[in-house]
Amino acid sequence: MSPVSDSTNRVIPGPQEPEEKTYHPSDGLFTDAHVPDFDAYLALYKKSTEEPEEFWADVAQEFYWKKPASGPMLQYNFDVNKGNIYIKFMEGAKTNICYNVLDRNVHERNLGEKVAYYWEGNSPDHHQTITYNQLLRNVCRCANALKLLGVKKGDRVAIYLPMIPELVYTMLACARIGAVHSIVFAGFSSESLCERIMDAQCNILVTADGVYRGDKLINLKKIASEALERCKESMALCVQKCVVVKHHAFRTSSDASNKLQTPWDESCDIWWDDLMDGVSDKCEPEWMDSEDPLFILYTSGSTGKPKGVVHTVTGYMLYTSLTFKYVFDYHHDDVYWCTADIGWITGHSYITYGPLANGATSVLFEGVPVYPHVGRLWEIIEKYGVSKFYTAPTAIRLLMKYGREPLQRYDLSSLRVLGTVGEPINPEAWLWYYDVVGQQRCPVIDTFWQTETGGHVLTPLPAATPLKPGSATCPFFGVQPAILNEHGEEVEGEAEGYLVFRKPWPGIMRGVYGNQERFESTYFRKFPGYYVTGDGCRRDKDGYYWITGRIDDMLNVSGHLLSTAEVEAALSEHPSVAEAAVVSRPHAVKGECLYCFVTLKDHKEFNRSLMEELKRKVREKIGPIATPDFIQNAPGLPKTRSGKIMRRVLRQIARNEKDLGDLSTLADPKVVEVLFSQRCEAAA
Ligand code: PRX
Repeated sequence: MSPVSDSTNRVIPGPQEPEEKTYHPSDGLFTDAHVPDFDAYLALYKKSTEEPEEFWADVAQEFYWKKPASGPMLQYNFDVNKGNIYIKFMEGAKTNICYNVLDRNVHERNLGEKVAYYWEGNSPDHHQTITYNQLLRNVCRCANALKLLGVKKGDRVAIYLPMIPELVYTMLACARIGAVHSIVFAGFSSESLCERIMDAQCNILVTADGVYRGDKLINLKKIASEALERCKESMALCVQKCVVVKHHAFRTSSDASNKLQTPWDESCDIWWDDLMDGVSDKCEPEWMDSEDPLFILYTSGSTGKPKGVVHTVTGYMLYTSLTFKYVFDYHHDDVYWCTADIGWITGHSYITYGPLANGATSVLFEGVPVYPHVGRLWEIIEKYGVSKFYTAPTAIRLLMKYGREPLQRYDLSSLRVLGTVGEPINPEAWLWYYDVVGQQRCPVIDTFWQTETGGHVLTPLPAATPLKPGSATCPFFGVQPAILNEHGEEVEGEAEGYLVFRKPWPGIMRGVYGNQERFESTYFRKFPGYYVTGDGCRRDKDGYYWITGRIDDMLNVSGHLLSTAEVEAALSEHPSVAEAAVVSRPHAVKGECLYCFVTLKDHKEFNRSLMEELKRKVREKIGPIATPDFIQNAPGLPKTRSGKIMRRVLRQIARNEKDLGDLSTLADPKVVEVLFSQRCEAAA
C-alpha cells in the first residue's frame, strides 16, 4: 500500500483502488510516534507473532516483579477436542497491578506530582484534580479499610458507583489486596445488581447515596438496598457490609436540593467517610500470581443470563498498558479522555488500568454529552487541552444531530488522535468525526474489541495505518485473526465470514466465572481450535478487516449473505437520517428480507418519497439485492444504557412477536410500545 496525500490529507486512490478513499494523518503531528509508519508496524507485528516469547519479555521488563517468570510465557489450549480450554500467561511470576500502576509511577518514575485524573462532575461547577501521590494514598486508605471489613485475597467485592474518584480508589484497592472486583454499571436495575452480586457471591458492596445524570437525580442507595433485599429474599445474601459514599450529599447538592431519602440498615450499611476515618494511607500490596483473578465483569449473553467474564493479573496488565501506549500513541504530555463509564470494559481497560500503567493524565467525566448544553464535550476538551479523545459512535451520531455550531464555540486545536469503540461506525459518522471534530488533522482510530478480549484486538495505529472509514483495519501485536466459512474452514484473501482468533494474546479472558462449560460452549465449541468472537467480518484486498456486525445480525437474502451494518451505513448516509437499525424478517420467496427502522433528524418528514429515496440509496450503495422491504419511522430505538441497539427487540417487532421477554436492560422501554404501534404490515 503506498498512499499519496493531497492537501486535505486524503489519500488519492491509486489505480487499484477506484472506489475506496484512504486517509492519512498529516505528517507534522507524529514526528515522535512510537510506530512511525506502516512498515514499522509490520516489523513489530511480525516479531510479536513469530517470536512471542521475546516480544512479551521485552514488554514485561518495564514492570515490577516480586518474583520473575521462570517458565514459558504462554501456555494454552484452544481445542475442545484436546481437553479443557485454558490460557496461562507468565504463570508463576508474582506481581501486583496496583503497585505497577501507582507505586511504580510515584517511586520509580518520579510522577507523584503529575495529575492522574481531572475529575469533571456532571455539573461544570464540580471538579477535582488528583495527582498520582494523592491517588496512591487514597487507594491505600481504601485498601486498609476493606481489610478492616475482613476482605482478603480472592474475596469478591461488588462496586456500584457512578463515575467518581471513589470508583477508581475502590477498584485499585481491591487489586492491591488481591480481592476480585466486580463492577456493575450504576445504570443497572436492582434486579440486575442482585443477579450479579449473587452470581459472584460478593461479600461487600460499595455504592453511593445518589448521583445526578444530566438533570435527573438517581437514588443509587435505594436501588442498592433493593438489590440486597432481593438477594435476601432469594436466601442468598452474601453481602455483609455495604459501604456508602456521600457523593450527592457532600459534593453535588446544596441543602435545599438534597431531597434524597437514603434507606439505612444499621447492621449492614456504613458511610465511606466513617470507615476511612483514621485509617493509614500506607498498605503493603498482596503479591499475586500472574494467573490470579483480577476482576469479573458481566456481559450479556445470548441466553439472557449475563456471563461473568474473568480477567487475571499479568496478561491484562501488560496488554492494556501496551495497547494504550501504541493505539493512542501516548506521550507524557498528553491529556487523554475516554468518555466511557468504568462500569464497562472500556472504562476498566482505558480509563483505569491502561492509562495509569503509562503514567498518563486522564479526564474522568461523570456527566453526559448534552448536559447542561450540547457543547459539553467540546467545552471539556478545550478546558483541559485534551489531546487524545476516545468515544463511541453512538455519541458521535448524537452530537452530529446538532451540527457544527456547538463545536465552533470551542478551541479543539489540542486534539491529536480520535478513537471510537463499541459498534461498527458508519462512514458518515466517521467522516463527521474526522472532518468536523478532528478538523482533518487527527486520525480516527476505530478500535474493535470485546469485554472478553480485555483490550484492542483490531485497530489502526495513529501514525502508521492508512485509514478507511468504517474499518478497524489491522490486528494489534500478538493477535492472529482469521475468517472462517460456515464449515469452519479458513478463507484467504478477500473474504467474508466468522471472525475468529487462532491464538490467545495476554489480555484475553480466562473464563466465565464459575462456569467452564459456558466458557467453552460460547467461545470455543462452534469452531474447535479457535476463539469465536461472534462477529461477522470482511477482509478486503489490502488485508483490512471490516466488522460487519454480530453474526446473529447477518442475514441471507436470496442466498446472498448481507450484513445489517452495511445496510445501516447506507441508510445513514441519507441527509435526513440520524440513525438506522436493520433486522431480518422471514420472507416466503427470498428466505429473509430487510426490515429497517430509521430515526430522522429533527424536523425531517417521513413520507413516501423519502422511503423511495432510502431504497434507492441502499440499491446504489450495495445493490438491488439489499433493497429494503420494510422501512419504519422510528422516533427512537430500543437501546441499552450503554447505547447499544437491542436488535433482538427490533427483530421481534419486525416479526410481530409480542412476547418480548426481559426488557430490563433497555434505557427506555416505552420506545418499544411506540414502535409496535407503528410497525409496517405491508412491504414498502
Ligand atoms: O460486536 C462487536 C462490537 O461490540 C461487541 C463487544 O461488546 P462489549 O463486550 O460490550 O465491548 C464493547 C467495548 C469494547 C463486539 O463483539 N464492537 C466493539 N467495537 C467495535 C465493534 N463493532 C464494530 N467495530 C468496533 N470498533
